[in-house]
Amino acid sequence: MKKLLLSIITIVAAGASVVAADRRLSAEEAEAFRFADGLLRKMTLQEKIGQLQQFRAYTSDVTGPDGEPRNIDAAIRNGEVGSLIAGCQPQHNHRLQRIAVEESRLGIPLILGCDIIHGCRITFPENLAMSCSWDIQAIEQSARIAAEESVASGLNWTFSPMCDISADPRWGRVSEGAGEDPYLGSKIAVAMVRGYQGDDLSSDKTIAACVKHFAAYGAPQAGREYHTVDMSEMMFRDRYLPPYAAAVKAGAATVMTSFNDLMGVPASGNRWLLYDVLREELGFRGFVVSDYTSIHEMVAHGVVADGKEAAELSLNAHLNMDMVSGDYLVYTEKLVREGKVSEKLINQLCREVLAVKYRLGLFDDPFKYGSQNQEEAYFRPENLAVARKLAAESMVLLKNEDALPVAEGTKIALIGPFADSQGDQLGSWIAAGDAKRSITFRKALEERYGAENILYAKGCEAERAIEGGVDEAVKIASQADIVLVSMGLPGWHSGEASARSDISVPAVQQELLDALKTTGRKIVVLLSTGRAMDIRNEVAKADAVLVTWHGGTMAGPAVADIISGDKNPSGHLTLTFPHSVGQVPIHYNAKNTGRPSRNPYKPAANYTSTYIDIPNVPLFPFGYGLSYTQFEYSDLKVLTPEVKIGGTVKVSVKVKNAGERDGDDVAQLYVRDLVAETTRPVRELKGFERLSLKAGEERVLTFEIPTSELAYCHRDNTVREDAGEFKVWVGEDSNASLEGEFALKK
Ligand code: BGC
Repeated sequence: MKKLLLSIITIVAAGASVVAADRRLSAEEAEAFRFADGLLRKMTLQEKIGQLQQFRAYTSDVTGPDGEPRNIDAAIRNGEVGSLIAGCQPQHNHRLQRIAVEESRLGIPLILGCDIIHGCRITFPENLAMSCSWDIQAIEQSARIAAEESVASGLNWTFSPMCDISADPRWGRVSEGAGEDPYLGSKIAVAMVRGYQGDDLSSDKTIAACVKHFAAYGAPQAGREYHTVDMSEMMFRDRYLPPYAAAVKAGAATVMTSFNDLMGVPASGNRWLLYDVLREELGFRGFVVSDYTSIHEMVAHGVVADGKEAAELSLNAHLNMDMVSGDYLVYTEKLVREGKVSEKLINQLCREVLAVKYRLGLFDDPFKYGSQNQEEAYFRPENLAVARKLAAESMVLLKNEDALPVAEGTKIALIGPFADSQGDQLGSWIAAGDAKRSITFRKALEERYGAENILYAKGCEAERAIEGGVDEAVKIASQADIVLVSMGLPGWHSGEASARSDISVPAVQQELLDALKTTGRKIVVLLSTGRAMDIRNEVAKADAVLVTWHGGTMAGPAVADIISGDKNPSGHLTLTFPHSVGQVPIHYNAKNTGRPSRNPYKPAANYTSTYIDIPNVPLFPFGYGLSYTQFEYSDLKVLTPEVKIGGTVKVSVKVKNAGERDGDDVAQLYVRDLVAETTRPVRELKGFERLSLKAGEERVLTFEIPTSELAYCHRDNTVREDAGEFKVWVGEDSNASLEGEFALKK
């Protein structure tokens, strides 16, 4: 008893934070914390607070409640800055780093972060697009390339991956995530952390990742940016938490909070999220940065009266670093003096920041970032090849009635606002991307088919008519054998602050399509978008629809690869394309309800869970995507009809390429827990495999699912698996019909 008491006293005395942070440390982390502890002993309180404050590097002031502009050089020199949101200019970054290292009292280096979201200089497809490739290795490679280009730009930290699950295409930031599914989202989150961080954070090829936006930012009410998020803890744990958790488990060095409130508490002041869940449950040992001014925004949220209270709430919630609101810098010392925040806590928050800096090797050589030969590091041909491959693999063929591929020698009319738009194809968050390096559809198709075979007209702007534009487009279309129309949404319509209430193609482009239709030519719609859209009209009118997304620097060559058939389309949707905005948010992994629809394909007023004006089914389900060949699935075998909890469920299936072209497919495995303590989704993705099959080739795939993947959140909010019966399906999308059963046993 005495012993127990003693250890309780020790824990209390040490402060809960310290105990949690020291749990299960790797040798490298332990060394970093030892270093940080040594340094902390030399630091004044003000210097410690400085480590918790991030400034912008591209302006000279820190935004703050006092509106007091500060000279960035002086602030760094005074030890008031721990980090900068930096740009990709190595000289500028070195200049500021030099002030920190050579002119501040203790010479503590800055950690320099930037939004490297889907590439640094080379822009890869937007993240939602990349997720549709289901190519985990290639996605990891894209992050590795982005890290290498970032290092050459003088950066050592990216605010990525965004792990926010979202099923709401009204929300502009669906473009930055991996879609609606937590299982796939987790695999991609892990791949990106590995890509950025490699297995050595101190290498001069890697940067620190930042898991964001913690948490549940992807579920804003009505899809409106920054809006309230309110859901049960059960829903949070089942659908939203897993990708963040997976990324943390993969060793992500940092985490960013989200702007939203969650269950009534803004994330940046939410101790349950930032301490109980993130540190105690998930064992996170890095540091947390707020989102941009989100600490001060808690005043507008109405949970604190002013910046001082905001800083108090965030510090006590264990939020380490203030992204530019300035409240930490201005108020922390007062809060410590008044006893509202303990100096022990400040030590711990600072220690976690210093340890990440140490692990990055910043104390050894802060200038290794940005000292590379930029010419050699940027836009390397082998990296552009990865961007081209990923852009092609991301594209999703939704419809094809004898229109694609297009044979050589065909006269092609290429029309639409995005067919030759170097900027739009890059999408949002194009850090140091360079639109001048974008190869457009027009350029690439001219190269592939010969300039004489590509007749180009813009037709209209994204949301505005061009005088005579439609007439010119129709004229050109009449001279061609086939019409490709690049339509949809411009690059700036995805990303932050780009919520839309209308997710259909702007009217002016629909009018262009109608006019082109009068030519009687085959029409292929190339859909430019960073979100799922209501494309009923386009699907009805076009002979083929290919979602090209905002495909990045190499979108043009990738589209030429697909249109020509040099590459077989293989992308599969990771975000449901709704029938119309009225179904939103819509996701395949919904619950059954007590009155499930009898025919989800038909509207009904029969007291079942339906609409009376539209069907329940979406236009295109999660996982959907066509190819120029056909894949046949057969012989589903449950190899383990009964599995003990803790074991592995094994299911095999035969896949055959029954067509005449080689191709890639994504085999997907879904399960349903038939009777559980809480209501379970009608289907949940629990396995997938991207595979290449030659024409006529067949292969038997075996999926192995650890029973831990079948865990779910119970009524007491604990996540665990329990005994019971399951259904399993394998096929090409979330409507897969090959079916089997298995049971979990105690
Ligand atoms: C965004 C973050 C981003 C940060 C820094 C915020 O507005 O929500 O995703 O990392 O700005 O640029």
